[in-house]
Amino acid sequence: MKNLAVVILAAGEGTRMKSSLPKVLHKLGSKSLVKWVLDSSLSFKPEKVCVVVGYGADKIKEELRGQKVSFALQTRQLGSGHALNQASKYLKNYKGDVLVLCGDVPLVRPETLKRLIEIHRKKGNSATILSSVVENPFSYGRIYRDKSGQVKAIVEEKDATDEIRKINEINSGIYVFSSPLLWNVLNKIKPNNKKNEYYLTDAVTILNDMGKICDACPEAGFEETLGINTRVELATAEGFVRKATLKKIMLSGVSIVDPDTTYIASDIVIGNDTVIYPCTVIEGRSKIGAKCKIGPFTVIKDAAIADDVQIVNSHVYESTIAENVKIGPFSHIRPGTIIKKGAHIGNFSETKKSVIGEGSKVNHLSYIGDTDMGSGVNIGAGTITCNYDGVNKHKTIIGDKAFVGSNTNFVAPVKIGREVLIAAGSTITEDIPDGMLALARARQVNKKRKIR
Ligand code: UD1
Ligand code: CA
Repeated sequence: MKNLAVVILAAGEGTRMKSSLPKVLHKLGSKSLVKWVLDSSLSFKPEKVCVVVGYGADKIKEELRGQKVSFALQTRQLGSGHALNQASKYLKNYKGDVLVLCGDVPLVRPETLKRLIEIHRKKGNSATILSSVVENPFSYGRIYRDKSGQVKAIVEEKDATDEIRKINEINSGIYVFSSPLLWNVLNKIKPNNKKNEYYLTDAVTILNDMGKICDACPEAGFEETLGINTRVELATAEGFVRKATLKKIMLSGVSIVDPDTTYIASDIVIGNDTVIYPCTVIEGRSKIGAKCKIGPFTVIKDAAIADDVQIVNSHVYESTIAENVKIGPFSHIRPGTIIKKGAHIGNFSETKKSVIGEGSKVNHLSYIGDTDMGSGVNIGAGTITCNYDGVNKHKTIIGDKAFVGSNTNFVAPVKIGREVLIAAGSTITEDIPDGMLALARARQVNKKRKIR
């Protein structure tokens, strides 16, 4: 957008969060608050973006590394007006409009911001405030209008009379100002208020005194103007984001049986006719195919899951799961697992950094780690790969169609050939050539017992 600069105020500590992390770095969904704000402003390509940082400046710069933004430093947090003034170094000669955003107001939509800028330009205002009419205006600045409806001031909760507290049109903390007039106004702000801060909101009174027009547009819904000051508001915002994500996913053709207990990250793609059962969490860079049944009680993170997969009551991390695989209940698929077509991983089985070949079965109480397993293998209950010698990890290789008896231990490194049969209870320490039967346990002896 031409003649538009953006300033994001993000220098505050966010004391009400009671956190060692700067407030704007708290996560909402999978993104930090400041990243939400930056992304919505970048979507309409402003000419310049300046982020005002102060508390935790280095951490915020690190978070925004690689983004096309300049940083202004507010060394002492003296208020929002003082914060915006720190951007004057970059923008004081800027002829255009300055859109001011708060790093703690993450859910404002780009369309709303665009409309705000259009109104500002069409009406020839000096300042245009994005406001919202809400049921409970507590803690927000109130938009004070005169009888003709002209915006005269923004009054903060702490400084408001009972009469003003009743006003339910609130300041979102988002404004468009005409520049360079803005910088002249900011220099006139004084810390005349209960908090002894330089309030940006005082710009409205100063502009009025100069005979300039300030306007407020109640264009934003409550969700968009929600400011995150405490973890309670963070959880409220999280709820909004979660609901919007689930709605988008359901409208795309996925059934979510119980949206109240389902958590899915916003950018996850799920194929048609997949059903997500209650108490399921899908996050990270995961992808789920079509016609899958996922859950109940399942966690999936950074995993690629193909079509027609069933996962019940299990955890799957950083793994690749092919079509028609069945997992669970109670399986733990750990990073680096590749499960090929039609394989089954069952009750209380754990896999890590292993390939489970096509149609192979690891159905009961097993640990398969650092293993390369062929197709059509049957792993008996309680089979364990002893992959760690206390210092290094070693590989187990199991050929196609091997039949592994229950309670077998593979002391790795060890290589099992194709179509091998292993007797139950064997501890395998040596390689087994193709097609052999291996017994590696003591023979049973039955002796007469003495009965008194
Ligand atoms: C502010 C507004 C209030 C509005 C509300 C909307 C003022 C005086 N009040 O109140 O009218 O309803 O937002 O959410 O502006 N900041 C700095 N440096 C500072 C102080 C603040 O960069 O010295 C930044 C913060 O990081 C934050 C933003 O400015 O992103 C707003 O500050 P905050 O203290 O949260 O103001 P509110 O009390 O919420
Ligand atoms: Ca705030």
